[in-house]
Amino acid sequence: MRIVVTGGGGFLGSHLVERLRERGEDPFVARRADYDLTRWDDAERLFRDARPERVFHLAAEVGGIGANRANPGRYWYANLMMGAHVLELGRIHGVDKLVIAGTVCAYPKLTPVPFREDDLWNGYPEETNAPYGVAKKSILVGAQSYRAQYGTNAIFLLPANLYGPRDNFDLETSHVIPALIRKMVESHDDVVLWGDGSPTREFLYVDDCADGLLLAADRYEGSGPVNLGTGEEIAIRDLARLVAELTGFEGEIVWDASMPNGQPRRSLDVSRAKELFGFEAQTSLRDGLSRTIEWYRASVPAAT
Ligand SMILES: NC(=O)c1ccc[n+]([C@@H]2O[C@H](COP(=O)([O-])OP(=O)(O)OC[C@H]3O[C@@H](n4cnc5c(N)ncnc54)[C@H](OP(=O)(O)O)[C@@H]3O)[C@@H](O)[C@H]2O)c1
Repeated sequence: MRIVVTGGGGFLGSHLVERLRERGEDPFVARRADYDLTRWDDAERLFRDARPERVFHLAAEVGGIGANRANPGRYWYANLMMGAHVLELGRIHGVDKLVIAGTVCAYPKLTPVPFREDDLWNGYPEETNAPYGVAKKSILVGAQSYRAQYGTNAIFLLPANLYGPRDNFDLETSHVIPALIRKMVESHDDVVLWGDGSPTREFLYVDDCADGLLLAADRYEGSGPVNLGTGEEIAIRDLARLVAELTGFEGEIVWDASMPNGQPRRSLDVSRAKELFGFEAQTSLRDGLSRTIEWYRASVPAAT
């Protein structure tokens, strides 16, 4: 099958590409340097060059709270345009299946926990990540409308916060887990963390997410969005303690409550993915964190 993975050189994308190769596929890895998908001409050239039957659309401009706060306009624009171009070109080229990565950041700020897909539209997302979340949500509307009007077979998944080897460890843009690991591996004194540690999050190991995307691609044909997660919620304060234990960090954890917490609680109802395509996450948080820390120490010589 001719498969394109947009964002295939990124964190999730590189793990998905690895999984596809293990299955004997030879996916076309679309890189930004070759195809800037915010530009129509580049996106069109990608579809002409690769003639895909199946597209995994993972390309996105993403980051943690700091990066979202610094780039609200860019994140809205880039993510919206990339999604719109991929959807329209999927229609024009009659792609058999489009698998689109949404995000847990699309959920309303205040939603009953665990988040159910049916509650996705019952409120505005948390302010710090709303432009990114709303852009992704708009692509869901596009996917549903294209299915209704043109029969485009596009499905939309909502992954929880991801973590794992090859995550982004740049402290300017990283998510919470790589930031914790890096700070705790590199520091022998106190580490200062944003917020008060009270928010909760759900974390999905990156390979589990790749497996979820593959299962959905093979078995799911519906228009409704589907959560991909573990269903397990942990407070950031407890996560920090766990990373401290696994990295052997012995300094103080200091909470800077003048910085934002982000969304108060996040945890997904994962029953729909199990019912519709048999997805259940396999990796415990402790195991996944241990593998990520091991990878970080091995990859960054200064970190050992
Ligand atoms: N990480 C998470 O916690 C998380 C959680 C939920 C959902 N997601 C979703 O999962 C997907 C992958 O996220 P990730 O964490 O793997 O992000 P990532 O490592 O930043 O990968 C995204 C990739 O998108 C590509 N890209 C960015 N701008 C582009 C452009 N203008 N044209 C073409 N390609 C562009 C980049 O490709 P190059 O490497 O070629 O520059 C980058 O590698 C995203 O759709 C994201 O919204 C992520």
